[in-house]
Amino acid sequence: MSETTIITEIKGRTGIITLNRPKALNALNGQLITEMNAALDRFDADSNIGCIILTGSEKAFAAGADITEMKDKTFTEVTQEDFLWDWDHITAIRKPIIAAVAGYALGGGCEFALACDFIIAAENAKFALPEVTLGIIPGGGGTQRMARAIGKAKAMEMILTGRMMDVAEAERLGLVARVVPLEKLMDEALATAEKIAALSQPVIASAKRAVNAAFETPLAEGLAFERKSIHALFALDDQKEGMAAFVEKRKPVFRNR
Ligand code: CAA
Repeated sequence: MSETTIITEIKGRTGIITLNRPKALNALNGQLITEMNAALDRFDADSNIGCIILTGSEKAFAAGADITEMKDKTFTEVTQEDFLWDWDHITAIRKPIIAAVAGYALGGGCEFALACDFIIAAENAKFALPEVTLGIIPGGGGTQRMARAIGKAKAMEMILTGRMMDVAEAERLGLVARVVPLEKLMDEALATAEKIAALSQPVIASAKRAVNAAFETPLAEGLAFERKSIHALFALDDQKEGMAAFVEKRKPVFRNR
């Protein structure tokens, strides 16, 4: 393997993964996916970390799958290696993941941002699923997650034309949670991550699972899952502590149990 394609660091209780292939605008090659998945697993397993940020550079979150690596693949190769099988690993991570997006989030870059729990975007962020212009379709979850995120009409228009969406439109459609000035992107993402990481981790994991259930189950099943989940949280010391602290007008001290 050549030089590493990501940079990892820990600030407070937040694990930060920065995609780092600046010459290729963070195009996602096999090595990067392997290294990113390993870093996600490491942070997920680290009890000192309560939230993860995935980010890129000021110019590009990621400009999509690496076209140079992909262009000569044959049908036999993509089916035998099950090309893109490892792109969904991010959704197996239990801790919250914030995508801090500046610049281009295109193709697979847009798909990874969508696979995170929510997106905080800089004012220069641009989103697109331009795969049809290359003779393919989105393959990292874009057809499914974009339709769920912004609805059929907008998703169809984006995917069938490959056009780029600016951040104002992305915010209006609910694709991004918040837009911030470029120079404040990491500070805002970190402040949000630290807020989450200071809460009870089993409670946060339960909340993430319950929201995700909304996209995978019929309503009645999702509501039943939510009710079972809140019942289970009454077994935690952190539930007793959170409510006692409210009544006693003090800050809770969560112990993640
Ligand atoms: N793969 C490989 N290399 C890429 C790349 C990609 N997706 N995107 C950019 N690069 C490379 C360029 O080839 C260029 O390399 P060289 O300097 O060696 O020529 C370098 O990054 C800088 O790019 P540009 O010179 O093109 O920069 P620009 O500012 O003029 O344009 C851009 C920026 C609009 C993002 C343009 O690079 C672009 O359109 N990139 C491709 C975007 C795209 O089509 N993404 C979808 C990929 S397919 C996919 O993701 C499939 C899937 O669903 C899994």
